[in-house]
Amino acid sequence: MNLLTETRPLDWLTDFPAIPDGWAYLDTAATAQKPKVVIDAIARAYGETYATVHRGVYQRSADMTVAFEASRQRVARFIGAGSADEIVFVRGATEGINLVAQSWGDTHLKAGDRILLSTLEHHSNIVPWQLLRDRIGVEIDVAPLTADGRIDLDAVEAMLTPAHKLVALAHVSNVLGSVLDVRRAADLAHNVGARLLVDGCQAVPRLPVDVAALDCDFYVFSGHKLYGPTGIGVLWARADILDSMPPWHGGGAMIDKVSFARTTYAPPPARFEAGTPHVVGVVGLHAAIDYVDAIGLDAIHAHETALVTAAREALSGINSVRLFGPADSAGIVSFAVEGVHPHDVGTILDEAHVAIRAGHHCAQPLMEHLGVPATARASFGVYNGLADVAALAKGIERVTRIFG
Ligand SMILES: Cc1ncc(COP(=O)(O)O)c(C=O)c1O
Repeated sequence: MNLLTETRPLDWLTDFPAIPDGWAYLDTAATAQKPKVVIDAIARAYGETYATVHRGVYQRSADMTVAFEASRQRVARFIGAGSADEIVFVRGATEGINLVAQSWGDTHLKAGDRILLSTLEHHSNIVPWQLLRDRIGVEIDVAPLTADGRIDLDAVEAMLTPAHKLVALAHVSNVLGSVLDVRRAADLAHNVGARLLVDGCQAVPRLPVDVAALDCDFYVFSGHKLYGPTGIGVLWARADILDSMPPWHGGGAMIDKVSFARTTYAPPPARFEAGTPHVVGVVGLHAAIDYVDAIGLDAIHAHETALVTAAREALSGINSVRLFGPADSAGIVSFAVEGVHPHDVGTILDEAHVAIRAGHHCAQPLMEHLGVPATARASFGVYNGLADVAALAKGIERVTRIFG
């Protein structure tokens, strides 16, 4: 079978009205395009059923509250959470990690405690811990990578000590696509009494995720990478951990009783959801999860793995291309074209209607490790097909011709 002559998965592609014919959208790791069912759910929520949640005494608000909480239940089922009360709606993975760092970190950690991260983390899983370090004096250690770009869990095992209270790692690297063995990472963290936070931003759209089976303690992801709206994301933590965490934002909806003398707080998840929530985002996220689940994450993973294999095969046939990351990366391929800045690669590909990401991908320490200022990155979604891979390879050949 010649993989590169096969067509796109037309049945899925037609679900996405913002992808015109002949445009190869290869930037899903930055943000996914939206299927019509999600756009329709958002339009309906604003155009037909809109109201605030949790406080209205009128029927419309009560109905919207039911829809809002149904989404929380749906998220819980989607990731194998023990209960919907373990699902905290946040703006995205970035906010979820900052919430943990400020609420859990400030109260459960002290000066001299250690946090273990890895070389490939997104800035969202680095900077909140540095801010915590600046506030309370924790120490940060950085686990190295294997030669093919995975977090080196043997090294993690050797580095961990009882002083480590938190291990925070990406489930799937947004640059290399490498997949973490979360279960082993959890065992290693728990062996020294540390908690494991998993940044699931790039995993949730690509792999089946079951937080109970993974045995992690915190899991965060963003809706917009999961074919859902921007501005909505999820922090999951085990109920006993959430119970032990103080509020981080104060305001409406997160209280039990307020007086000037003393205020008491609502139980989780409301304790962490101050203010009017992103009602429509939550409803849109529900539609996105239904969409993804109907296709099935096993099918999506197999689809993206085939595209990654085809892309790596096509690009490795071009002399001046250097590929990063492991061969079995999940939906993401980073590469460099010798002597050409990734931004130039991206610009020339854009002329050929191929959209990739070029830059440091919010992973500057990883760029330093790879010895490059930036990479070009192609990342796949359900709407991509082998025609997109062929367009990418053709575009890269044009880049090499232009730059001699
Ligand atoms: C691995 C990873 N973590 C965290 C983030 C941050 O996500 P957001 O900007 O949606 O909060 C991203 C987004 O690029 C990511 O790829």
